[in-house]
Amino acid sequence: MGFEDRRVVVTGGAGALGSAVVAALIEAGAVCHVACFDAAEAQRFRFRDHKKVVVTVSGDLADEAAIARLYQSIDPLWASIHIAGGFAAAPLRETGLAALRRQFDMNVMSCALCCGAAVRAMAGAGGRIVNVSARAGLEWRGGAGMVAYAASKAAVAALTVALAEEVAKEGILVNAVAPSIMDTAANRTAMPEADFALWPKVEEVAATIVFLASPDNRVTRGAVVPVYGRS
Ligand SMILES: NC(=O)c1ccc[n+]([C@@H]2O[C@H](COP(=O)([O-])OP(=O)(O)OC[C@H]3O[C@@H](n4cnc5c(N)ncnc54)[C@H](OP(=O)(O)O)[C@@H]3O)[C@@H](O)[C@H]2O)c1
Repeated sequence: MGFEDRRVVVTGGAGALGSAVVAALIEAGAVCHVACFDAAEAQRFRFRDHKKVVVTVSGDLADEAAIARLYQSIDPLWASIHIAGGFAAAPLRETGLAALRRQFDMNVMSCALCCGAAVRAMAGAGGRIVNVSARAGLEWRGGAGMVAYAASKAAVAALTVALAEEVAKEGILVNAVAPSIMDTAANRTAMPEADFALWPKVEEVAATIVFLASPDNRVTRGAVVPVYGRS
């Protein structure tokens, strides 16, 4: 896909989806700059010693200093893939300010700040940005019982489309994927009675992300691509 030695930032790269994305990018020849939340996560990350992987212990990506640490030495930057985020389910009446802020920090602030840093780092040379929304961020009725999460992922979808128009003339193509429940170990543990076969595999979602981030993606921008598997 033309990734050979191109530099790609992957936030949340040590997580379930992130690891699958890093695996696919390494296979395609990219150099991955992976943000890990803390040293313990960096130590657990299975690709930490790979010659095509540079690990940065970034801390909380809802913080501008953390973002600066991550992007400062990457030149040139080809693509930035923003997977860091997280889920919380609770009725809104039981969701206080701290929990609301936590969802928006994890999902929206980290994504928006990384998008801004990536556009600056690309410095007019073009590139690719891929964000991660969620099915509930597109299909809002499905967000009942997880209102803060649905609203935060809807914001990720909106910022993706707006930013795509803002930077199109610079040759930066911005897109997102919106996964339904993915087949991860955590989801299998949380929902042991579910039919796992219906869930998209992280490798399948990763393949869509990697295409959107690749030089082979020549014209697609402002898309929030549903990646739902058979669910
Ligand atoms: N799993 C699903 O079924 C599903 C469905 C739809 C959308 N998504 C979205 O897909 C993405 C990946 O999901 P996943 O299942 O792979 O999750 P995961 O395994 O929990 O990985 C997410 C990673 O993001 C990191 N992270 C979260 N907030 C951060 C922050 N503020 N600063 C720095 N790092 C942060 C986490 O670090 P820590 O572990 O240290 O917190 C973790 O390494 C997320 O955005 C999620 O919302 C997931």
